[in-house]
Amino acid sequence: MSYVIGVDLGTSAVKVLLVDREGKVRAEASKSYPLFHERSGWSEQRPEDWVEGTIGALRELTATAGVRPEEIEGLSFSGQMHGLVLLDEANRPVRNAILWNDTRTTAECREIERTLGDKLLGIARNPALEGFTLPKILWVRKHEPDTFAKAKRFVLPKDYVRYRLTGEIRMDYSDAAGTLLLDVANKRWSPEILAAFGLPESFCPPLVESHDHVGGLLPEIAEKTGLAAGTKVFAGGADNACGAIGAGILSPGLTMCSIGTSGVILTYEQSRDTDYAGKVHFFNHGKADAFYAMGVTLAAGYSLSWFKQTFAPNESFADFLRGVGDVKPGSGGLLFTPYLVGERTPHADSVIRASFIGADGSHTRDHFARAVMEGITFSLNESIAIFRGTGKTINRVISIGGGAQNPVWLQMQADIFDATVVSLENEQGPGLGAAMLAAYGCGWFDSLDACAAKFVKHAASYEPNPEAVEAYRGLFDIYREVYAQTRPLNQKLAAYRG
Ligand code: XUL
Repeated sequence: MSYVIGVDLGTSAVKVLLVDREGKVRAEASKSYPLFHERSGWSEQRPEDWVEGTIGALRELTATAGVRPEEIEGLSFSGQMHGLVLLDEANRPVRNAILWNDTRTTAECREIERTLGDKLLGIARNPALEGFTLPKILWVRKHEPDTFAKAKRFVLPKDYVRYRLTGEIRMDYSDAAGTLLLDVANKRWSPEILAAFGLPESFCPPLVESHDHVGGLLPEIAEKTGLAAGTKVFAGGADNACGAIGAGILSPGLTMCSIGTSGVILTYEQSRDTDYAGKVHFFNHGKADAFYAMGVTLAAGYSLSWFKQTFAPNESFADFLRGVGDVKPGSGGLLFTPYLVGERTPHADSVIRASFIGADGSHTRDHFARAVMEGITFSLNESIAIFRGTGKTINRVISIGGGAQNPVWLQMQADIFDATVVSLENEQGPGLGAAMLAAYGCGWFDSLDACAAKFVKHAASYEPNPEAVEAYRGLFDIYREVYAQTRPLNQKLAAYRG
């Protein structure tokens, strides 16, 4: 038998999956690592923690899976997007990585807009948002000039881990698209954007396709992980692109809802000319010469894990959510907006914060938990509303990630999105997508589509319930008002944040 491995380098943990030729996950292992929030709005990780976690998880996988190392043909990656890893001459990180959910760069975003004007949307196809990479580069250059002076190039999180495993520096188009330095339609680093900010092209890594073979494992890594030295390493892609691959979102008309730490609504786009005028992100796909558009809720799964961690730290998720299905849609008039770390779509706002509105003495913890799940889903529905507003038909959504593990949440998605929601037999979208890139790269299939036809298996289907759809329609209108009503209050409260 032969196998491939998908490495999913997430925000809270790295997960590795061993997948066979039928697309079955035969073994998995995971290692978590810390996040550092030194100040409100800051979010950093230590690149060394990712490397140690990945090696540790791979070692556990090879030790427990019961397969011979030579049977594992290839490995590829899915990575948390946008995180800035600055490297010195010897490719050592010069500081901690600044992550996608770090919002310290508002001033740099305005500088990018002033400098590039309309060219930004024309070339990078996305607006300047705090989470993206270029604003982070400008922040370090301005606030830590001595550190920046040591930086000779930058990579994104999974590129750094891949470098440490192979000794080769590369970046794939799907991840490069989230830097604001890529000419998305023409698939090259933009000479115009680089020149506008005085960055040399050597600052950017060579670009490759997600299924491209980057190299082999370094001998010491093969030894530490228990993998064979001949294991082929493929570039991999951005987590959302890999999630889409793992959910089979590889042709027009398909839409995905992914709820991990962040949440996204993503639709496949074939044409590089599709134009959402920056209202949603537009990125290169992990499938060559394809694209996707997506809206992002910054704190999706994070809102629920924050809530559980804060109010029921010792309970399992299953126990914590047990009563949520007994609460009626609408949580008895309790609304939650999931703006714990600011928001992206449709309100690119780093100052806004979360609210519960409408609490009364009859509400129990189950009402609050359900309101959190509904608020996250309402936020994702704002992205669906944008897509529908441009004439797209969305009547079927493939759901992956933590949000797809709970039947109550899947039905809630169907009712709030007013669409059929389909779960997958294997809801580990990004990790499976990474494994599929390795399977395609190894030549097991002629195309990613052929791989998806075998690997992606639909499980349950959830139909919208007309009564709940009606109730949620009214609540969604009220939910949408909360942003504007709480914005001035949050602007005043910002002065009191740590
Ligand atoms: C997408 C984004 C997040 C991260 C999570 O633009 O910032 O979904 O990719 O890892």
